[in-house]
Amino acid sequence: MKEMVMSHQAIEITCADLGQKLTTLLKNEEKLPLFICVMKGAMPFMVDLLKYVSVPLLEDYVQLESYSGTQSTGIVHLKRDITTPIDGRSVIVVEDVVDTGLTMTFLKEHLLSLGKPKRILICALFDKKIARKVDVQVDFTGRVLTENKFLLGYGLDYNGLERNTPYVYVPTEEEVKALDDLLKTKAI
Ligand code: IMP
Ligand code: MG
Repeated sequence: MKEMVMSHQAIEITCADLGQKLTTLLKNEEKLPLFICVMKGAMPFMVDLLKYVSVPLLEDYVQLESYSGTQSTGIVHLKRDITTPIDGRSVIVVEDVVDTGLTMTFLKEHLLSLGKPKRILICALFDKKIARKVDVQVDFTGRVLTENKFLLGYGLDYNGLERNTPYVYVPTEEEVKALDDLLKTKAI
């Protein structure tokens, strides 16, 4: 049996709650705030979250990679960069899950090398606080996870699979095996 972590309905409620908090925070910005989606995992979350952020804003995307299978490799690659100038803006990084913290540390440093934002805030659907290798503060969190389990669905993937599942769950070993079989037979 699948272990449900966040149902489709709970995701919607979480996005509404975070969106309202961000709306309050960003009401009186001098420059348009910039929301940066960390691809590919945070794409569904970005789309749903922004439905509930009712201030004028800009969107951009970075693509970062550090995972292989169910493990972080510890090395972060920047595969696609933003094109929007960030000087003087509030920058809100939208992430699916903060795990070791390496990706967010890398991205913050990278953004600071591109310009002088007013501030950089992190909004993550999940925070695996216990898995941290480097200290990163998540400013807006959907849910803090107290156990270090590998999650799938709603953007979270296993070698590219399962991003299109509309809820978040912990896969069983059999489910991971079935995904491996799919990758071996149908992904090539
Ligand atoms: P960090 O650099 O270790 O904090 O990892 C962050 C990235 O790893 C996230 O953007 C996710 O793409 C990926 N990740 C971390 N935990 C999981 C998980 O449980 N399932 C799928 N991807 C994960
Ligand atoms: Mg990610």
